[in-house]
Amino acid sequence: MTTALPDRVEIDAACKLIDDNCQSIYTWRYERDRPQLVTLYEKAAHSQWVGSTDLDWSTDVDPESLVDLEAPNLRLMREVTRMPGSPIASWGDAELLTLDIEMFTALLSQFMHGEQGAMMTAAKIVDTVPWIDAKYYAATQTMDEARHTEVFARYIDEKVGEAYPMNPHLEAQITGLLEDGRWDIAYLGMQIVIESLALSAFGDMARRTEEPLLRKLLRYVMADEARHVAFGILSLGEYYEHLSSAELKDRQDFLLEHTLHARARSTTPEVWERLGVPIGDVAPFIAEAAASMDTSPFQGFQNGFFSKLVPNVKRLGLLDANDGYLRERWGAAGLLRFEFAEDTAADYDSYDAVAADRAGVEA
Ligand SMILES: [Fe+2]
Ligand SMILES: [Fe+2]
Repeated sequence: MTTALPDRVEIDAACKLIDDNCQSIYTWRYERDRPQLVTLYEKAAHSQWVGSTDLDWSTDVDPESLVDLEAPNLRLMREVTRMPGSPIASWGDAELLTLDIEMFTALLSQFMHGEQGAMMTAAKIVDTVPWIDAKYYAATQTMDEARHTEVFARYIDEKVGEAYPMNPHLEAQITGLLEDGRWDIAYLGMQIVIESLALSAFGDMARRTEEPLLRKLLRYVMADEARHVAFGILSLGEYYEHLSSAELKDRQDFLLEHTLHARARSTTPEVWERLGVPIGDVAPFIAEAAASMDTSPFQGFQNGFFSKLVPNVKRLGLLDANDGYLRERWGAAGLLRFEFAEDTAADYDSYDAVAADRAGVEA
């Protein structure tokens, strides 16, 4: 019996091919000469958890209980229903609730796709980083990210509904990291930018939800993510001490591209599409409603992101390199107020809910 190969359309729907331009490095130096990475690796090994047994999957989840009708985003959408000529003027609480459940599903779907990207990026770091202690650590991270992908996929499938495809902006961002020929860019983009963003987004969701399974899942994922950010800070700081001004400027430009320019990308066209409302029709109303509200519904989350990112980047020396090139631009965007927040290499242990829970059980 012969099996026909799937056609191109079927392959594209099932997977994506990416060419990595970075060389793999085999090292013959096994000395453990980076003690902070040794500590981090030991912590990672001790704080491993198992998705299928550490989380209680028998928990009954009512999708409606996951959303909060008074959340800032929903207040914004309620405002849009009241605007003259709005394409969703006929919507009441039932439709808004459906919208919010879909937005929640879309966000969890991006977490799931992003975690797979993190798993592949961590595996790339294993391949491309020159230091043995960093290879060891990145191997533990690869396992962590596998677990994160697995638990988000299972949560969506068993408790929420049909997952959304990967958002094109996130897909382009992670694909860029996987293709880049400079090994530190995968680190900078994933460990510093995307993981700082993830810590903030997971923290935001964990604070808003009362659902016990999701809360514990997020606390456990965050325990791992905080270590991942610390790993980026401890490794890259050393590497950046030896780069030229021009090379550092490249990294500073990378950060500008992935922070300030990325701020406008928070709409969710795929959700509106699923609900049958053309995004082009509703987007101007959302923008107008957001402008008329005192604070942006994304403000809390943005603050959380930058309060982690800015001190982390400062610790890498990238804020002040090239006569403060990045300091000047982030300063103009009002981000320097986060400069003295605690960086994640200093506070990552405070996230370790896995160790805390185990200590509680022993006590
Ligand atoms: Fe993760
Ligand atoms: Fe991570």
